[in-house]
Amino acid sequence: MKRPNNPFLTKGYISPLYFCDRQKETIAIMEALTNGRNITLYGRRKLGKTALIKNVFYSMEKSYICIWIDLMPAQNFAEMVNIMTNNIYLAIENNKSLSKKFLEYIKVLRPVISYDDLTGTPQITLDTSNSKLVRRNFEELLRLLKLFKKPVIIAMDEFQQILKFPEKDTEGYLRTIIQEMPELNFIFSGSDQHLLHQMFTGYNKPFYQMSQMMKLGEINSDIYSEFILNHFSKAGKKIEVEDIEYILEWTNGITYYVQVICNRVFAQKTKKINRLLINTVLNNILSEFEDSYYTYREMLTAIQWKVLKAIALEGKVSKIYSKYFMSRHDFYNASSLRKALESLIKDQLIYKSTNQGIAQYEIQDVFFSKWLAR
Ligand SMILES: Nc1ncnc2c1ncn2[C@@H]1O[C@H](COP(=O)(O)OP(=O)(O)OP(=O)(O)O)[C@@H](O)[C@H]1O
Ligand SMILES: [Mg+2]
Repeated sequence: MKRPNNPFLTKGYISPLYFCDRQKETIAIMEALTNGRNITLYGRRKLGKTALIKNVFYSMEKSYICIWIDLMPAQNFAEMVNIMTNNIYLAIENNKSLSKKFLEYIKVLRPVISYDDLTGTPQITLDTSNSKLVRRNFEELLRLLKLFKKPVIIAMDEFQQILKFPEKDTEGYLRTIIQEMPELNFIFSGSDQHLLHQMFTGYNKPFYQMSQMMKLGEINSDIYSEFILNHFSKAGKKIEVEDIEYILEWTNGITYYVQVICNRVFAQKTKKINRLLINTVLNNILSEFEDSYYTYREMLTAIQWKVLKAIALEGKVSKIYSKYFMSRHDFYNASSLRKALESLIKDQLIYKSTNQGIAQYEIQDVFFSKWLAR
């Protein structure tokens, strides 16, 4: 197994050794999948949804064929089928007879296999000019999965992407096909909480009640703190618990930001970590991103920028149309505030959640938020 130089991963997944907690979630997802229930995993960005799916697959891979499909790059149905074809092929590549059968199955789309020069990873390109053939091929692909000896689990990450496809019937079409194949179990996941929720809990939507909803929250701070301390100690580095708590507080415990900071702090040559060093790392990160923050400013309207800044200063805002918030930050018109807010949420610059029915607003990107509030 690969052993990274730095135990704090900022992308991908290696093994449970570098993955903190999520035990309850892992067990709950496995329990659902092994009992024929689909799961919809949602939550704010960068909390670790994709890594959690990989952690579930890590435990299930011996007895199941686990296929992960990232729909983020897919702009239409054909591109989705292309991504899916490649990922299925990757999952079965080592099984010669199965992979031969697989290529036979997708023959109508004239697959061409090439290999990445550096990694040797196979890449299949399909002829997707005929949309009817693409759909038929997609159905054939799923039927082929049913023939595998091991049961199959398919994770469709960033699933809300299908709503952006020009083929407006994709949701209804997928539902029909998926329902015809109860042997296949699915994890649907994504960071657009609002859209995913609408897709799976709107009673007039095709995916209504098609899966069990699971909301991912922050990792328990005591458990995260112990994980961080252990990795520093194992490498002979000393860090105080108060300093770890400082990092967890600064990032609101949002996994990706905790990982980036710990990774940077860990990479410092010194054996003894102190607050000054942590603050230097934080300042360096914010300066590195500064150019892109100025680019944001050029792209946004003056009021949108003002809204961002006001929310960043408050940290988390629940009564955004209150006299307190509006007069404190010089907003005079609730409807222009609403308009700016809505477009910032749509562009995922602001994250809207609800707490006991009350809407709350935060800046999605923790680093950006800290920079704005300086
Ligand atoms: N439980 C964990 N322990 C340690 N690192 C983790 C954990 N979960 C996620 N990470 C790390 O945090 C980073 C972000 O995780 P991930 O990409 O899974 O988040 P996500 O919720 O899928 O984000 P996005 O909303 O952008 O899709 C990755 O570098 C991943 O390795
Ligand atoms: Mg993800």
